[in-house]
Amino acid sequence: MRWLAVCEDDIPSGDEWLSAAERSRQERMRFTKRRTEYRLRRYAGKRAVAVALGLTDRLAEPSRLAGVEMLNRPGGAPFVRLDGQDASVDVSLTDRAGWAVCLVGPEGTMTSGTLGVDLEIVEDRSVTFVADYFTPAEQAFIHTCGAPGSDGWAWSANLLWSAKEAALKVLRVGLRADTRSVEVSLDLQPRPDGWAALSVEASYAGVFPGWWRRDGAYLLTLAAREPHQPPARLDGGSDLAHGIPTHSWIGRPLVE
Ligand SMILES: CC(C)(COP(=O)(O)OP(=O)(O)OC[C@H]1O[C@@H](n2cnc3c(N)ncnc32)[C@H](O)[C@@H]1OP(=O)(O)O)[C@@H](O)C(=O)NCCC(=O)NCCS
Repeated sequence: MRWLAVCEDDIPSGDEWLSAAERSRQERMRFTKRRTEYRLRRYAGKRAVAVALGLTDRLAEPSRLAGVEMLNRPGGAPFVRLDGQDASVDVSLTDRAGWAVCLVGPEGTMTSGTLGVDLEIVEDRSVTFVADYFTPAEQAFIHTCGAPGSDGWAWSANLLWSAKEAALKVLRVGLRADTRSVEVSLDLQPRPDGWAALSVEASYAGVFPGWWRRDGAYLLTLAAREPHQPPARLDGGSDLAHGIPTHSWIGRPLVE
């Protein structure tokens, strides 16, 4: 597995790097936030897949990235089409506050639904949020990390939330599912490369092993159907550890 991060400043101007299908979906998004996030995830995905598949010559000319399409299944899960053909690589996409990450699975399998990735920031979460969306064991863990309003509370609640979303992406259901139907366990000691192990147990679908890391203000989690080594960082991305959360859409909520 490999991963790559990009930020809003990396997105090429104009639309020539998007395919006709991607542009048509973008056209339907009237809110700047949705449109910017859609473009950001597309750019992360195209860049990651181009580097992972050795198509780095396409990065020099944005229009050549149009052939690396990030499309969606009817339920929302992403898949890659390369020059009009389904690519034999699974991807998962996520963005949060001006940054996006693409996780690319091992090459050579047409299977999709093997991976899920999720990006969050360390931000406050309410007592009600924790009580409503976490299992009793997860709530107990969050309470041991700190009181409501503390950094420990915010860190642990967002990390567990992110791991749930990553696993629910593997399951291809997203937040249609009850978030308490999956329970997260964490290894708290990161390895020298920054990754620490996690696992997510789905009451109806088994256990999904994964990894998490904290990069500055950001928390990144992934889950997979099978155990894997942590993903390697692809060349050609931006450094999430120095990422500053941004909300550029606030001053211009509607697309003009
Ligand atoms: C999956 C989900 C939890 C992610 O929401 P989020 O945390 O706000 O957003 P993230 O940036 O982390 O992830 C968004 C990406 O998740 C992926 N995704 C969406 N639905 C997915 C699903 N069912 N399974 C796996 N991945 C999914 C997509 O790649 C999406 O980006 P894209 O639309 O640009 O391709 C949320 O989109 C969801 O619950 N979706 C299912 C229900 C729904 O509303 N579907 C509407 C589309 S049919």
